[in-house]
Amino acid sequence: PFLRMKKSLTRESLIWSVDQRWFEVTVDPMFNQEGSLTGGVHVAREITARKQMEDKLKSSEERYRTIIETIEDGYYETDLRGRVIFLNNSLGRMLRCPMEDIIGKDGRQFLDEENYKRVVDFFTNIYNTGKADTGFICEVIRKDGTRMPIEASVALIRDPRGKPKGFRGIVRDITDRELAKELERQLMRAQKMEAIGTLAGGIAHDFNNILTVILGNISLLKAYHAKPGDKIHNRLTETEKATLKARDLVRRILSFSKQELEQRAPTSFGPLVEETLKMLMPAIPSTIELSQDIDKDAGLVMGNVSQIEQVIVNLCTNAVHAMRENGGVLKIKVKKAELSDEFFTRNIEIPPGEYLELTISDTGHGIEPEIMDKIFDPYFTTKQVGEGSGLGLAMAQGIVKKHGGLITVDSIPGKGTTFHVYLPIFSTA
Ligand SMILES: Nc1ncnc2c1ncn2[C@@H]1O[C@H](COP(=O)(O)OP(=O)(O)OP(=O)(O)O)[C@@H](O)[C@H]1O
Ligand SMILES: [Mg+2]
Repeated sequence: PFLRMKKSLTRESLIWSVDQRWFEVTVDPMFNQEGSLTGGVHVAREITARKQMEDKLKSSEERYRTIIETIEDGYYETDLRGRVIFLNNSLGRMLRCPMEDIIGKDGRQFLDEENYKRVVDFFTNIYNTGKADTGFICEVIRKDGTRMPIEASVALIRDPRGKPKGFRGIVRDITDRELAKELERQLMRAQKMEAIGTLAGGIAHDFNNILTVILGNISLLKAYHAKPGDKIHNRLTETEKATLKARDLVRRILSFSKQELEQRAPTSFGPLVEETLKMLMPAIPSTIELSQDIDKDAGLVMGNVSQIEQVIVNLCTNAVHAMRENGGVLKIKVKKAELSDEFFTRNIEIPPGEYLELTISDTGHGIEPEIMDKIFDPYFTTKQVGEGSGLGLAMAQGIVKKHGGLITVDSIPGKGTTFHVYLPIFSTA
């Protein structure tokens, strides 16, 4: 440092080590009255303790850096306003976003309105209580627009005086866990419907035989033991009407159970949907606008025409009912489905392959999330007593399943509902 000082004529310093001990040597220039350099003041200070502290800090910092950079979970730090000030590579990868597009920016770019509100609430709570929390679940939107469910932990970062200056925590991608839950739910549903179907089908089958005997006897009584206009004849007619209603109900139950025998034939799907709509048209009030987008050449389905008609009628009737008060638009679309691998991973009930897709969407009152799980159950209805039996969707699902297909539903309460029906394409090859 002395040589350097001679050149610079200002204080120079050097860190020096001897036998595991560390020294800091500083040299200050000394001048005579004429202002020329006459020498230097050397001060050596032992800094071994400071040096050891620094080394310790460095290695502990290194340790945490290694942990953070090698874990699969994401790690983030933000300031109090939610701007990201640090993140690890895993989090960048998860978000499919280059680091420079995240650092210094608001985490908000990865959240929709609803999730943003929940995040703000959660962070505000951490700020107010000062307590770290884990298990916060929300959904983020990656840079490429796909969605990812995550679980996060959040803790306060404090400055040396203990004042909060930001947040930090771990982010875990829980796509697989959520998928497993969803698949389990589908499996449970399938098993439940199967059990209900078998039970109801068995009962309905026996009932059908009994009703046939009752109806036969009523006809005989009416023909041979009563005259038209008679009191007895009138009573028998009422009995017959009620019994026919019972038979109709039994038939509907049979159609979502497995018992019914059926005739199938390859049928062009587009025209079948179109014909059914023509038949339905008179029943649609003028406050509802019907919009059709039907690809007539979408493909053939191997199916029972009257059952498939029934599916369309049931779904359209529900849509019309949901719009009866305020009117709206009933949109019907038929096309060959473009289904991704991901679709088949998410829907275990149908095997990968080619499908026809019928979409029926309405702008009606929608379905509340709490009842979403129940709408396909037989006898589940939100309609007034006498208005609906709750069999419409159960039948539709039973029929579609028997045809090797799938029904899915999306709904936004107050906005509308969309049902998708997927049926396997019949190939002649
Ligand atoms: N498009 C829709 N919009 C809003 N809610 C719907 C729609 N489709 C079905 N739902 C809800 O699902 C329930 C069950 O429908 P489902 O067709 O099985 O029975 P239902 O229409 O009530 O009676 P049914 O069809 O036997 O006359 C309905 O009561 C309704 O709450
Ligand atoms: Mg219905």
